Amino acid sequence: MRTPIIAGNWKMYKNVGEAVETARKLEERVQDSPVEVVICAPFTNLPALSALGLTKVKLGAQNMYFEDQGAFTGEIAPGMLLDVGCEYVILGHSERRQIFKEDDELINKKVLKALNVGLKPILCVGETLEERRAGRTEEVVVAQTTRALAGAAAEQLTNLVIAYEPVWAIGTGENCDAEDANQVIARIRQTLAELYTADLAQQVRIQYGGSVKPANIKEFMEQPEIDGALVGGASLDVDSFTSIIRY
Ligand code: 13P
Repeated sequence: MRTPIIAGNWKMYKNVGEAVETARKLEERVQDSPVEVVICAPFTNLPALSALGLTKVKLGAQNMYFEDQGAFTGEIAPGMLLDVGCEYVILGHSERRQIFKEDDELINKKVLKALNVGLKPILCVGETLEERRAGRTEEVVVAQTTRALAGAAAEQLTNLVIAYEPVWAIGTGENCDAEDANQVIARIRQTLAELYTADLAQQVRIQYGGSVKPANIKEFMEQPEIDGALVGGASLDVDSFTSIIRY
């Protein structure tokens, strides 16, 4: 059985004080949840969140570079994330792909690095509206998954989480139909089976992301292939994120 994982992607929201207050309340409210709970906060919040010593809520970052250190102005190293208590790191988010022009080759280097240093990547894949309309959804997610994982060893795969996030569903309030999402996620799992083994593919957790809210989380979690959610907007408010986690 795969343990469900619900992660909040806070994107570029919350100063340190707001982050600490939200995380403290969340930690109290989800203590007894069987779900693994993660907050992916802005870099500047991570030291203060780590200092809270949270036990139930785990920490993640939203990006990293693939080098250990060096002259890479503005970038954050994997070891720096481990140093501030991160267990997870979101990689290949569509906002990174689209706004910051990250391509599959760069994302692949980051995924390999994260796995090698012991950070658990939450690898995001998903099609644009144009690609969906052209009937290319599965082709796109299969290609993104395959390229991002090139060179990743089978024994590292259980540390990987994949988030299927259709680009058109992100921040739009228009979520993907749960059965559709289940089908795409099944295709991603089949890709893992083809690249590795069926047994390993069964162990990897695959989330859905894109306009997840308290009102629709249950539909997603009822799907057999969907192992959790990556939540943007609705993770910022502790009440709504708590209801999502308590689906
Ligand atoms: P929303 O939940 O705000 O649609 O964002 C989804 C997302 O991008 C999570 O990574």
